[in-house]
Amino acid sequence: MSDVVRMYRQGEAEVLKLESEDVGEPGPGQVRLRQEAVGLNFVDTYFRNGTFPVRPLPAVIGVEAVGTVDAVGPGVTQFSIGQRVGYYFSPGAYRAVRLVAEAQLVPVPDDVPADVAASVLAKGLTAWGRVRRVHPVGRGTLAVVTGATGGVGSLLASWASDLGAKVIAVVSRPEQVATLNALGLGHVAVAGTGDLARLVAREGRPVDVVFDQVGQAVFDDVAGVVTKGSTLDLVGSASGEIDPSRLAGVRVTRSSTGEHLAGREVLLGAAEEVFGALRNGVFGVREVRGYPLADVVRAHRDVESRSAGPAPVLIP
Ligand SMILES: NC(=O)c1ccc[n+]([C@@H]2O[C@H](COP(=O)([O-])OP(=O)(O)OC[C@H]3O[C@@H](n4cnc5c(N)ncnc54)[C@H](OP(=O)(O)O)[C@@H]3O)[C@@H](O)[C@H]2O)c1
Repeated sequence: MSDVVRMYRQGEAEVLKLESEDVGEPGPGQVRLRQEAVGLNFVDTYFRNGTFPVRPLPAVIGVEAVGTVDAVGPGVTQFSIGQRVGYYFSPGAYRAVRLVAEAQLVPVPDDVPADVAASVLAKGLTAWGRVRRVHPVGRGTLAVVTGATGGVGSLLASWASDLGAKVIAVVSRPEQVATLNALGLGHVAVAGTGDLARLVAREGRPVDVVFDQVGQAVFDDVAGVVTKGSTLDLVGSASGEIDPSRLAGVRVTRSSTGEHLAGREVLLGAAEEVFGALRNGVFGVREVRGYPLADVVRAHRDVESRSAGPAPVLIP
């Protein structure tokens, strides 16, 4: 028997209940995975609190994990017992042992600890989709990244900067500026202070792209700097949805990470790039916060109160 977190109804964090299960043997095309770290993503709170529908109930939420293959089903060709693997979006992750289709899996390099890998895979693939597909960035790009202290925003800001973009990172509190400076991000604006408009004006040219993780709480700042020809990529809305219709001439984009990862080769290549950037130090030192799976309620409360940090994981 192994641990699993089930949810019998959607609601507050307390709906998450630790129970036991016997996952059995993998079926055709599946592997059984001993999960070492489960990535905790903001979207998990949407599946839990009813923002996104979940059917049928009871359900197991969570979309991402890293672990070791301990059994393979008939017809599995790409993975073998003992291999370290991860997946970035396959609902049902909050458990210690799981059956998962091999098509969902990517290899995890041996030198990347499981908790670090699980903290970076889904968020890093999201960042990859933005800097490589939505608005490819490079030398000469002027990019604004909101929520730059968050899971996605911190990776996105560092990656865009490493690719040669001039990045203006937006944070919510002045004490966060030093944290981003330490990551090599020298241009940091505190939301709601006029910093962003000042830093953009200093560049003397229009913003090429805003990668927005936050939505409502930074919308006035963002609306003040996007202009005709800018791209506003609505990656997420951690503080609430916005209505971008008043932004005339701005290219507004909204997409899920999966839309940029269609096809096995694309997924494998993107994951390799994420782990490559991690190993090359592009994302700095990842300060992972591990919560025992049994503390999942506390972990969700921390994500919602913005105290879980950019890299929370559940440890089964
Ligand atoms: N499109 C996709 O496929 C996709 C994929 C992944 C994530 N997302 C979405 O992207 C968003 C961010 O995800 P994440 O994993 O990065 O979440 P996260 O780690 O919780 O980070 C949230 C960020 O938003 C900031 N923030 C939250 N409320 C704020 C407020 N009221 N005022 C100013 N800043 C605020 C936080 O700042 P503090 O540090 O000050 O708390 C933090 O920087 C979520 O909406 C998520 O669902 C979308």
